[in-house]
Amino acid sequence: MQKTKAIILAGGSGSRLYPLTSIMSKQLQPVYDKPMIYYPLATLMLAGIQDILIITTPHDAPHFHQLLGDGTKWGITISYAEQSAPRGIAEAFVYGKEFIGTDQVCLILGDNLFYGKLDFLRQAIAHNQGATIFGYPVQDPERYGVVEFNADGSVISIEEKPSKPKSQYAIPGLYVFDNEVISIAEQLQPSPRGELEITDVQKVYLQKKRLKVEKMGRGIAWLDTGTPESLLEAGEFIHAIEKRQNLKIACLEEIALRMNFIDIQAYQSLLETLPNSPYREYCKRVLQEHLAP
Ligand code: G1P
Repeated sequence: MQKTKAIILAGGSGSRLYPLTSIMSKQLQPVYDKPMIYYPLATLMLAGIQDILIITTPHDAPHFHQLLGDGTKWGITISYAEQSAPRGIAEAFVYGKEFIGTDQVCLILGDNLFYGKLDFLRQAIAHNQGATIFGYPVQDPERYGVVEFNADGSVISIEEKPSKPKSQYAIPGLYVFDNEVISIAEQLQPSPRGELEITDVQKVYLQKKRLKVEKMGRGIAWLDTGTPESLLEAGEFIHAIEKRQNLKIACLEEIALRMNFIDIQAYQSLLETLPNSPYREYCKRVLQEHLAP
């Protein structure tokens, strides 16, 4: 299987969340009990990816460093790139060119949360030829990239935030691309709103007949957090499940252990560094259950 790297795009001004974002970037805001970026990071780690680039703004880069470091503690490698001005999602591949090298790449938007069985992503990574993206039915597709299917399930069109969506299927901010994405992104022209659109990249793959769109199953929750209301709802969602199951979603220490990215000794040392908190107590419980399931 081809090696897969991943990029988390955590730039942008987050102006729709102002004044929350006047000091701290969107992807550092709390989603219930963790900073938002923990969730996309968890998604990538659970998909088995250990080499991750975070693209952020010059202003926020030090905060992300402080929060996540170089990832060694979780058995992953995190590197950083700074996007001086937000010029669109597809620019991630231009900034990420050296990082991606000759590998394929998974891109996740730092404000997109996924919950449920991640087999769909593991499958996409294992079998991707060209590009693999997803379709997810939502009530308000006009807020997103929208994919239209014909009766036999093949893709007819892709549109960015259409005023009259041709289907209910939004395209979540989670994509797998082969290495050609770099040259496609480099040749892209800005859209009327001045951005290198990720949907334009998808259209190139569609024209080349190298785009696969998988419908995401109903068992997956996809939440975005771009507005105060959706941020609150995402927090409520995480809270409801964590409370009911008495388990944590996106506990990076737990994931590192369960994915065997770190061994028990490294986990124990990591525990020592955590401040006295319910989070640490949870991590201790994870260890006890791991040792005596
Ligand atoms: C972006 C993409 C859009 C995608 C969405 C997912 O929109 O342009 O195609 O459906 O993310 O969250 P934006 O976050 O820029 O509104």
